[in-house]
Amino acid sequence: MAEELITTRHTAEQPARILVGDDDAGLREMLRQLIEEDERYTVIECGSGPETLECLTADEDKRPDLALLDIRMPELDGIQILQRMLEQGIDVPVILMTNYGSATVAIRAMQMGAADYLTRPFQDLDEVLITIEKVLRYEQLKRGLEHRSTGKAEPIDRIVGSDPAMVQIFKTIGRVARTPATVLVTGDTGTGKELMAEAIHNASDRRSGPLIKVNCAALPESLLESELFGHEKGSFTGALTQHKGRFEAAHKGTIFLDEVGEMTPGTQKKLLRVLQEREFERVGSTSPIQVDVRVVAATNKNLRDEVLARRFREDLFFRLNVIAIHMPPLRERRGDIPALVNHFLDKHRYSPSSPQARISEDAMEKLTIHDWPGNVRELENIIQRAVVLSRGGFITIDHVVFQNELNRYVLDVQQKVRDNTPLEEMVRDVRREAILTALRLSDHDHERAARQLGLSVEDFERECQELGISVDGAA
Ligand SMILES: Nc1ncnc2c1ncn2[C@@H]1O[C@H](COP(=O)(O)OP(=O)(O)OP(=O)(O)O)[C@@H](O)[C@H]1O
Ligand SMILES: [Mg+2]
Repeated sequence: MAEELITTRHTAEQPARILVGDDDAGLREMLRQLIEEDERYTVIECGSGPETLECLTADEDKRPDLALLDIRMPELDGIQILQRMLEQGIDVPVILMTNYGSATVAIRAMQMGAADYLTRPFQDLDEVLITIEKVLRYEQLKRGLEHRSTGKAEPIDRIVGSDPAMVQIFKTIGRVARTPATVLVTGDTGTGKELMAEAIHNASDRRSGPLIKVNCAALPESLLESELFGHEKGSFTGALTQHKGRFEAAHKGTIFLDEVGEMTPGTQKKLLRVLQEREFERVGSTSPIQVDVRVVAATNKNLRDEVLARRFREDLFFRLNVIAIHMPPLRERRGDIPALVNHFLDKHRYSPSSPQARISEDAMEKLTIHDWPGNVRELENIIQRAVVLSRGGFITIDHVVFQNELNRYVLDVQQKVRDNTPLEEMVRDVRREAILTALRLSDHDHERAARQLGLSVEDFERECQELGISVDGAA
């Protein structure tokens, strides 16, 4: 898929324009020669900060495709230029050139949205060309994806997926959306079941009617029944007025029964009747109500297993499972991850007017190899958090924090509490771990270790003694 998205814009006929911003004419000339040796590129030279900014803020068709900027220029330096670009929403990728020893500046540059940076003096001239190539390819991929995700604001367009299994699902939805057939969407948590239900409704001829969602797991049996089918005044304690149920509300539209596997036998029986006869009674009433409702149900349980275990009615299962859509887990469609990341970067901007945050290659790789137990929802949460951590700028590998990394410690404590571990013991474990770590980090220098833990040397040594840690750090 990636290949298909890489356009052929940077060909010899139409070379990519690379802006070289540097106040040193000799270095500019050197870079021009180096870059233009590759016929796919042509260089625009800018000798000062203001000149560079003018070039970057030109009309869109005159802007360069990429800018290579010296971080230190008089009047307006590379960081200030990035700042202006951010303010004005100028989306030209920038590679900053810094001098050795200015790592903090480089980090700041990346946070400000630079696409990459190079340190000078260049160790290897190929590195310059490789970095340019890499940034341009990423940019084109990104633009290609943006192009695909804009356009009609149909909910189906908001669904990302080009994995063959997903394409198959989209085809199924396209085929069945306009029929009245009941659909059962299955799949693990966070795989997009609710999104599919919305897509089915929106692609159907009922789209002008309501889409009513009911979470069957959220309500106890008595309330669920009255929620679904309504009740008459006085039909049970607390039923002070007549209440129309969700099935009535969904007339001429779609009802989405989420977590349908959680229904109790009583509700299952009533639901079966609606599906068979398209009619039901309100709780406490004997007059049947007829409705024209399309049913889409979802569950993360394996309903066949539930049927075998006699927790779910087999006849209801067959009524629901007319059209079956199974959402594959994210780890089985890793090829979709970059496009999903891009989609969520677009969806979750730092502020409504912020440009889309960028993401480093190694951060993207970390996302691609993760196992995703929480599927697409987990990915969405992680991107949301990374955008906040990077303040909407450039997401690096450190901004990508998985749930298990973040909470391992908390989970550990929770487990210990469940196992009835006394508080005293847990605290002792933490103290021991802290002391041993401080000793390791200080190379067994008690003074440094004590300082690190905010203790006096005496207190530190007393702690060691109490915990049975010998001077050389052995427990
Ligand atoms: N293919 C996709 N493209 C874009 N966004 C997606 C996709 N799949 C899921 N999402 C997003 O991920 C989040 C979780 O999806 P959704 O609520 O549909 O999952 P679910 O299967 O119903 O989860 P659960 O079983 O936990 O209820 C939503 O914000 C949804 O918009
Ligand atoms: Mg759901």
